[in-house]
This record gives sequence, structure tokens and C-alpha cells, in this order.
Amino acid sequence: MEEIAKEDRIIELGSSFFIEQEINSSQQTDMKPTREDALSLLLKYNQSESLIKHAYSVEAVMRHFAMIYQVDPDKWGIIGLIHDLDYEKYPDQHCTMTRRILEEAQWPEDYIHAIVSHGWGICSDTEPVHIMERVLFTIDELTGLITAAVLVRPSRSILDLEVKSVKKKWNIKGFAAGANREVIEKGCAMSGMNLDAVIQETINGMKTVAATIGLAG
Ligand SMILES: [Fe+2]
Ligand SMILES: [Fe+2]
Repeated sequence: MEEIAKEDRIIELGSSFFIEQEINSSQQTDMKPTREDALSLLLKYNQSESLIKHAYSVEAVMRHFAMIYQVDPDKWGIIGLIHDLDYEKYPDQHCTMTRRILEEAQWPEDYIHAIVSHGWGICSDTEPVHIMERVLFTIDELTGLITAAVLVRPSRSILDLEVKSVKKKWNIKGFAAGANREVIEKGCAMSGMNLDAVIQETINGMKTVAATIGLAG
């Protein structure tokens, strides 16, 4: 793959990103969640293979975007990994139950706010305001569309997937109808990100865990 300079990728994604929005440690409580904390909660509340693969996909994409923006990939990854924590057991209380579980586990409010904001306008009134939250909001549904697009390819591999293949599927309304295109577009608009660049970087992020998420062919 052609190596593109990080600066160019940031410009391509959208110049309205404000990296200085990165929440600093002053807003955190004493508790700093680790990936192990997130994974053990994820596996405690989820048995569905597809939901767990979705969690790994979103984690990888969040880490990938954090690395492009040169901010904390561990924090972004943990938030991605655990964002749908309650969905399998409490689909009707999605996000609400996650807040309750994480508050009981004494997770810091900035983590909880970020996680709950991914359901903004669907199952949560919490608006994504931080850039980390807006990226999560944007790429969550997109990982679903990309996964579906890979699984109908003869190769069943994401490794050589191109943006134009995803765009073709994007335009077929009945294809992966659960992947809400309007939410993805709204997320791009909120973040000032270019849709094609977001699709490309989401593919790149998912490629880093292709075997784990069952998309290595
Ligand atoms: Fe969700
Ligand atoms: Fe999700």
C-alpha cells in the first residue's frame, strides 16, 4: 500500500479536526480503565461471536484513527472495544445499561460520556462533542457495512478491499440495511471528515485485525 504522510491523511480526513479537544487527565478520576478491564467486562456481558467481532473491529478502527491524529490509541481503543457492552443483554436499554454498569465499576465520566454518545439520536440524548466521540459515532455503523461488503466477496478478505467496492454497496439501499448511512454521513459532517477518506481509514484499521474479525479470507 502506498504510504501517505500522516499530515496528508489528516488534511484528507478533514481540516476541521481539533486535536486540542483531546480531553486531558484533569477530567479523569483516579480509576484509569485498562484494556483488560474492558475486555473482561465485554466477555462477561457478551457471548455473541458477531458482537464480539464488532467490538474488536471498532476497537481497531478507533486505535487507527487515534494514531493518525497522534493522540492516545489505548484510550480510544478501550472506548471502541466496550461501546456496545450492554447490547446483547439489554437491547432495549442500549447505552443506559452501559452507563449503569460502568458507573458501578467507577469508570471515569469522560469514558462513559464517549461510549454513550455513540447512540446519539437513536438510544441516547448524549451528543458526541469530543473528536474521539465523533469518530466513534461515524465509524460504528461503517464497520458493519464494510464487514457485510467483505462477506459477499468471493475472497471473503478485507486485505484488498477498495473504497469503490464499499461505495457500490453503499448505494444499494437493501444491502446491509442495518448499517445506517445517514448516521455515517452525519458523523462525517459533524467532524468535517471526508466520507471516502473515512471509508479508506476504516478499512485500514479493520485490516490490522483482519484474522481476529474473520475477514482475512
Ligand atoms: Fe451501539
Ligand atoms: Fe456498535
